[in-house]
Amino acid sequence: MKKRCQRVFTILLVGLCMVSFFQFYKALHHMPLLQHLSNPSQHLRQIAMFREFLWKENKHLEDGSSTSELTDATSGQPDLQSMPWTPYVDMAPQASFRVTGVLHQRMFQLHDDPKSYFVHTKSRMLCFQEGTKMDVSGVIAGQGMALASQREKNTFIPAANMSTFKKQVARCQCRQGWHGPSCGIPTVVQHSNLPTKSRLVPRVVPRRVINALNINHEFDLLHVRFHELADAVDVFMVCESNYTAYGRPRKLLFLQQLLNGTFDYVKHKVLYVFLDHFPKGGRHDGWIADDYLRTFLTKNGMSRIKGARPDDVFIINDADEVPSREAVLFLKLFDGWTEPFGLHMRKSLYGFFWRQLGTLDILSGCTVGMLMAVYKCNGILLRRREYYTLPDFRTYEKTTGRMLLPWSVGSPVHYAGWHCSWCFKPEGVYYKLISAQNGDFPRWGDFKEKQELSYIRELIRTGGWFDGSVPEYPPTNPKEHMFAPKYLLDNYERYKHLLENVYVKHEDKT
Ligand SMILES: *[C@@H]1O[C@H](CO)[C@@H](O)[C@H](O)[C@H]1NC(C)=O
Ligand SMILES: *[C@@H]1O[C@H](CO)[C@@H](O)[C@H](O)[C@H]1NC(C)=O
Ligand SMILES: *[C@@H]1O[C@H](CO)[C@@H](O)[C@H](O)[C@H]1NC(C)=O
Repeated sequence: MKKRCQRVFTILLVGLCMVSFFQFYKALHHMPLLQHLSNPSQHLRQIAMFREFLWKENKHLEDGSSTSELTDATSGQPDLQSMPWTPYVDMAPQASFRVTGVLHQRMFQLHDDPKSYFVHTKSRMLCFQEGTKMDVSGVIAGQGMALASQREKNTFIPAANMSTFKKQVARCQCRQGWHGPSCGIPTVVQHSNLPTKSRLVPRVVPRRVINALNINHEFDLLHVRFHELADAVDVFMVCESNYTAYGRPRKLLFLQQLLNGTFDYVKHKVLYVFLDHFPKGGRHDGWIADDYLRTFLTKNGMSRIKGARPDDVFIINDADEVPSREAVLFLKLFDGWTEPFGLHMRKSLYGFFWRQLGTLDILSGCTVGMLMAVYKCNGILLRRREYYTLPDFRTYEKTTGRMLLPWSVGSPVHYAGWHCSWCFKPEGVYYKLISAQNGDFPRWGDFKEKQELSYIRELIRTGGWFDGSVPEYPPTNPKEHMFAPKYLLDNYERYKHLLENVYVKHEDKT
């Protein structure tokens, strides 16, 4: 009875808060914005409202901006169409789904990877191709060269060709950075805290790897992920919502690009997950929205995967966390590691040039078996370090005969991926600010002066934070190991804004 009273009281209190929040908002913008938001029948008016609202925001931005990127050169007014991050609604999801059929309902069939990653030695030992020196130990010179040149071209020896090489190599001789009898253990595993290093064995059939993430507007890093992991990951489960984490409508930017050909190089590996609602209470408590995104992503995504096996790998990342190919390939090709696992990621802010000390190490992966049995197919539970409190943890240990021991690929000095926070051009930082969830306080998106592009550019230049502090950063060099993912370095000019501090004047640099 007492509990019920408390609940009623809490609900009343929440209601009161919401009402005063609405009033505040109304006063701020001179229009009943949220009222319209919550009334779906006024869709068209909503659009107009948002255009107007954004126009104001952009005007405001313009004042502090010296670039022409936000403005239409001909009219001098903000060109909303050219701002991909503009969170107004100009495309009903229904319209795009009419084009695609039911992209967000399609099933994804997993298949076994037909590539052969290992070759045999005379003594029937398996050598990991990429980790093994192939031109020694009796490989016929011509064949060794052919193999090396194939490797350079990043192609793999098809299974049918394996027999040609089988008898040539006596034992695996590891190239630098590779360890173990099969030369398939990368340094990031060799130097990790994995408790079962001595029990690692190459698999006959690779595991399938499922990489799940929510996308907002981190498209540079999405291209990076796809290029880094395209051959190690079997399916990318990408969830997009027509609401921002703050609960405002947003365009389905990823879907648009999926349809217009931008991602054709990887489309066959993408499972599109569409979150078409905003969770109850998510506006009031941003953490609810944050968690819900992961829950929905995992449950909806996994329910549409066909042919998954318990020993397949599931990895859930934020869009700004990119595991290295080496780390994921190891998980795919070896047996004997324990779970759940994390990844030590190199940390940086605004780009790869502002490296932060230490690593980000978040539990982010396990087998599909564990995901289903222990985490009940909920990705957010995996990212919390609380698996041992879950009721089915012991049962899973008993039935699989495995000890569940968490570990992390990499170490504080051996990076197994990159966590690049706020890695956008200034306009992208602005959009992240205004679409951030309501719960990570202070919410810098609520401060008008922090939304100025000139202010944001200054933060990027100095490495400063929104609270006015400027942390110490160790020096970096684009040539250092694991400075940035290969795809970015290979396309340096296009991604210069992530690779060097473009706002430092030339004299300052030298
Ligand atoms: C080996 O692979 C090449 C292409 O990489 C192919 O042309 C050739 O027919 C293959 N040889 C055998 C014996 O399968
Ligand atoms: C999001 O999509 C759903 C399903 O198409 C739709 O009912 C809803 O009104 C959309 N919300 C916004 C803000 O566009
Ligand atoms: C696809 O759409 C995106 C944004 O919506 C745009 O930036 C890009 O240029 C388009 N690409 C093509 C090939 O039309």
